[in-house]
Amino acid sequence: MLSGKKIVLGVSGSIAAYKAAVLIRLLVKAGVDVRVVMTPSAHDFITPLSLATLSKNPVLTQFVKDKSGQWNNHVELGLWADAIVIAPTSANTLAKMSTGICDNLLLAVYLSARSPVFFAPAMDLDMLKHPSTQSNISKLINWGNHLIKPGFGELASGLVGDGRMAEPEEIVDQLNSFFSVPKLKGKKALVTAGPTHEAIDPVRFIGNNSSGKMGFAVAESLARQGAIVKLVSGPTSQVTTHPNIEVKSVISAEEMYLACQDIFPSADITVLSAAVADYRPLSKSHQKIKKSESNLMIELAKTPDIAAELGKLKKKGQFIVGFALETENELANAEKKIVSKNFDMIVLNSLNDKGAGFGIDTNKISIIDRENKVKQFSLKSKQEVADDIVNAIVEKAYA
Ligand code: C5P
Repeated sequence: MLSGKKIVLGVSGSIAAYKAAVLIRLLVKAGVDVRVVMTPSAHDFITPLSLATLSKNPVLTQFVKDKSGQWNNHVELGLWADAIVIAPTSANTLAKMSTGICDNLLLAVYLSARSPVFFAPAMDLDMLKHPSTQSNISKLINWGNHLIKPGFGELASGLVGDGRMAEPEEIVDQLNSFFSVPKLKGKKALVTAGPTHEAIDPVRFIGNNSSGKMGFAVAESLARQGAIVKLVSGPTSQVTTHPNIEVKSVISAEEMYLACQDIFPSADITVLSAAVADYRPLSKSHQKIKKSESNLMIELAKTPDIAAELGKLKKKGQFIVGFALETENELANAEKKIVSKNFDMIVLNSLNDKGAGFGIDTNKISIIDRENKVKQFSLKSKQEVADDIVNAIVEKAYA
């Protein structure tokens, strides 16, 4: 995604300037043409020779090249760049950027730029917290610049807190996702997540341990690829702030079914990751059931199989992904389920795998398609697993 891009890397005077060397290496490795502009005070922290060698281009600091009067054209540099990345951004450079001060080449390039600008603050925790710094950061964001958030950790002063410049890998990740072309723009998606609660009486229910993490991660991943997502979620503590995701909260399987029936006809992609209760109490007691000496029998009725019902309604052009959480004969059961529920793809996670399953932040999956082709993935964070699932959907349905 970054290959062939042209980036001006601004380096200002901060102890974090050493990280610029690693950042340049990563960018060059990704195929980026990097031109480094240093502020005069950045020279106290790292030599231009290091950064010129790594970027394979001369490093610029002065407006004028030498005594010949030839100038380093800041306007040209500002126009040449696909992005300007200022990492580290010291408190001083930040303040100058937010007030239009132009007393060095980097600030002149910043003011001349038409490309997106990313800034990665690096400073001591109290400097970062200071209202003037916070107001400068807000101003830059409001003008459309992109903040690369500073992280928490040990600072050069020895204090511990927020203010460490983001790691070079995180900066590259942010640039990568900025430049990646969304693959599902214009598509509509339905995702189910979380458990369902089937009421026994006003205070008790039948439920399960699903946290909703996997479904929320899938919704985020679809939204990052440009899809408009309706997320039907059972009771969960998960939240999302993505503007492309609309959450419809439900409690029981019946409510989830009704919400899905409404949304499904217009969904191009449906991912059913909810752990829907298979049974509900046949009748709900309106009063709290009193304890007695004898055993209590609760008659259970089947809940609607949302997946199977949607599978019957599926039309050409609609793509359904189901989940299977199995404890035995995993593959055979998952393959049967693809057919019985008319899925296009099934994500299998086994409770026998360490690190996979309910409540935790990681998962280990296999993805199986209609031709019974199996792709196995290693143990990953649920967000990475969600990206793998969405990539598989893109490959199968839209490649
Ligand atoms: O039959 P089983 O519960 O193993 O099927 C799992 C798949 O079916 C998951 O995708 C799950 O979200 C979905 N499902 C559903 N409604 C049910 C039961 C399961 O949508 N009542």
